[in-house]
Amino acid sequence: MKIVPLSDEDRVPVRMLELGCIREYVEGIMEQKWEDFDQEVRQKLGASASGSFGHYRDSGLSFVAKEGDKVVGFIFAQMVPWIDGIEKVAWVENIGVDPEFRRMGIGYMLMRRLAEEGKEQGATVVHSSISPDNISSLLLHRKLGFLAEDRKIAYLDLGNQ
Ligand SMILES: CC(C)(COP(=O)(O)OP(=O)(O)OC[C@H]1O[C@@H](n2cnc3c(N)ncnc32)[C@H](O)[C@@H]1OP(=O)(O)O)[C@@H](O)C(=O)NCCC(=O)NCCS
Repeated sequence: MKIVPLSDEDRVPVRMLELGCIREYVEGIMEQKWEDFDQEVRQKLGASASGSFGHYRDSGLSFVAKEGDKVVGFIFAQMVPWIDGIEKVAWVENIGVDPEFRRMGIGYMLMRRLAEEGKEQGATVVHSSISPDNISSLLLHRKLGFLAEDRKIAYLDLGNQ
């Protein structure tokens, strides 16, 4: 198992894997039917969507875990210039591991690699958005030492303004 920077050759498998993780979240935690999301909405979901893949590939902070040639995990992240008065924050957009490869330390390794690379690039903090209902994710973040305060990110859709 190796952790390598996200590259163009990962585009299709990482898309499949991220959509699978999103579907799991939608059907499990959100208790909604995947089929209720129309094709156009699904195409835009996730950091691996065609519009954002290149941005994350070029951020230098996105990685995939590979078992041989198979993509078994991903982390999409980027550097944000300022958040909450802190300069250079490594922002985790999404992390996921193939269900058959979970609890093998891959999520932990992906996050550690991001933290090391972020620090190398000048970040002092890593921000990651988590749902308190997502126990695996919450425990992963705790194991890594994240402070998971009771804080959510509010979202304003400017398309409706
Ligand atoms: C969350 C996720 C990325 C964790 O990946 P993973 O490779 O299985 O995690 P690791 O094996 O590195 O686990 C590291 C630690 O996290 C905690 N953890 C992870 N999954 C857990 C689970 N199902 N139950 C309890 N603890 C869990 C444990 O503390 C674990 O350490 P341990 O195995 O020594 O006890 C994976 O479950 C996943 O892809 N989930 C679906 C997508 C998702 O929810 N992403 C998060 C969006 S923020």
